[in-house]
Amino acid sequence: MSSKTALVTGATGLLGRQVVRAFERGKWNVKGTGYSRADGVSVLKVDLVNAEQLTAALDDVKPQVVVHCAANRFPDKCDKDPEGTRALNVEATRRLASLCAARGILLIYISTDYVFPGKPGDAPYEADAKPQPTNLYGQTKLDGEYVVLEEYQKAGKAGLGVVLRVPVLYGDAEVPAESAVNILLDNVWKAQESVSKIKMDHWALRYPTNDISVKYLGSDDKSKLPSILQFSSEDKCTKYEICQRFGEIMGLSIAGIEPNTEGNDPNASVQRPYDCHLSTKALKDLGIDVSTQDFTGWWRWNVKAFRK
Ligand SMILES: NC(=O)c1ccc[n+]([C@@H]2O[C@H](COP(=O)([O-])OP(=O)(O)OC[C@H]3O[C@@H](n4cnc5c(N)ncnc54)[C@H](OP(=O)(O)O)[C@@H]3O)[C@@H](O)[C@H]2O)c1
Repeated sequence: MSSKTALVTGATGLLGRQVVRAFERGKWNVKGTGYSRADGVSVLKVDLVNAEQLTAALDDVKPQVVVHCAANRFPDKCDKDPEGTRALNVEATRRLASLCAARGILLIYISTDYVFPGKPGDAPYEADAKPQPTNLYGQTKLDGEYVVLEEYQKAGKAGLGVVLRVPVLYGDAEVPAESAVNILLDNVWKAQESVSKIKMDHWALRYPTNDISVKYLGSDDKSKLPSILQFSSEDKCTKYEICQRFGEIMGLSIAGIEPNTEGNDPNASVQRPYDCHLSTKALKDLGIDVSTQDFTGWWRWNVKAFRK
């Protein structure tokens, strides 16, 4: 049995499931926590907003590393429930950081490219660029970054609290709606039968990313790690271009999908950034592999798997 133990929050989610697998591949003991989808056996059911449950989970699992993936991460849902979103994305994060810092646990807080404004001409963003979120989701994730760094600073353990920002993710989704990329394949299918054309954003640039590296967890001298890291693919595309790729992969026409280059509706309450491309320099400087899966290659493999 390995002596290294990791705890992954949000282990029932899109990213958390993969982080658990990555630790398993690395021969760590790993325990995941989830909430509504947790079975209480393979994945612990822990309401992170509940201080007692959170403390009990840490005392029970006794990890050396916690990867904090759990969050409310759908911008529209966040907008509809600002209090609940702050309770999970910020306050639960603060409590987790404070408890982990007091126990000398390395905490990797998963954040987002949405902490940046994404104005045309700004990207790529270095890890130390000035954040300025355009919506409540991004703001709560940024506040989560601040509370992690603050709690570790307060505890005199600054090197042990790390922020890892990632862009839009795709991968093994339980349902396509779990990922803003996977759902586009559904749209391509719908466009085959739809009478009216489906409007698809062809304005905002995205860098769909799969297969997050967690190699740096193994560093012997964590105090040398920068406190903010960023991971991203270099593959730039709009949602409409992703639909085009899906059309090619599946041999489907996307004539029923209309590129929409209008950008944000200035009256919408959730404004989305145009281009938040994250520089991966901080990870590269650490000698960490920032190569990503090839988008088309992964999807070819994935859709074939579905057809079996
Ligand atoms: N997905 C993306 O494209 C993307 C892009 C950039 C950054 N991120 C960041 O990456 C992280 C992981 O995202 P994801 O896509 O994996 O999210 P996800 O699929 O929506 O999963 C969210 C996780 O949070 C858990 N959770 C929700 N409320 C909880 C509560 N009260 N107590 C405990 N756990 C709770 C959920 O558990 P149950 O489902 O069991 O309730 C689930 O495991 C997030 O921090 C997100 O901000 C994601």
